[in-house]
Amino acid sequence: MYPVILTIHSFLRWMVILLGIWAVVSVLPSRQAAVSRAAALPGLLFSMVLDIQLLAGLLLYVVLSPITVAAMQDMAGTMKNGGWRYWTVEHPALMILAVAFAHIGRPRGAGAAPGKRAVIWYGLALLAILLATPWPFMPQGRPWVRW
Ligand code: HEM
Repeated sequence: MYPVILTIHSFLRWMVILLGIWAVVSVLPSRQAAVSRAAALPGLLFSMVLDIQLLAGLLLYVVLSPITVAAMQDMAGTMKNGGWRYWTVEHPALMILAVAFAHIGRPRGAGAAPGKRAVIWYGLALLAILLATPWPFMPQGRPWVRW
């Protein structure tokens, strides 16, 4: 179960990033105006896939990952260990913020809100995701693609 969910979590990262870029690009032209239903669709998909990713992340965090399950047994020690702290605090906290940003940004009420809000919040969500992803060149790096 652990390798399956980890692989899904790794793959969904690419969907989340692509949908995030699509969401920002789609609302850009309606910065000063209401967001049409069509322009709001990528943002809806972005939030939905992010929610699934959040669920997979929580499952790893609480039950499946030997790293976080062990790290939570000794939080004081974990906070002093950069590697453990990354997986137990930094990665989840920034990603949860990203999920919140994406939901705040979603234009509601059949295109009532101007697109500027969505551009800002989707942009912030995307930035947080890019910063909190364990890219291969980072100390806690993981593969670009997991099979
Ligand atoms: C929502 C956006 C998120 C993205 C884009 C994301 C992305 C990733 C990526 C790319 C990995 C590395 C996978 C690999 O080893 O190939 C990873 C690992 C992990 N993520 Fe996330 N993540 C997100 C949210 C979360 C959340 C909210 C949590 C916890 C509540 C979480 C917990 C974890 C854990 C525990 C691991 C490592 C598990 C292990 O190696 O044992 N993630 N994440």
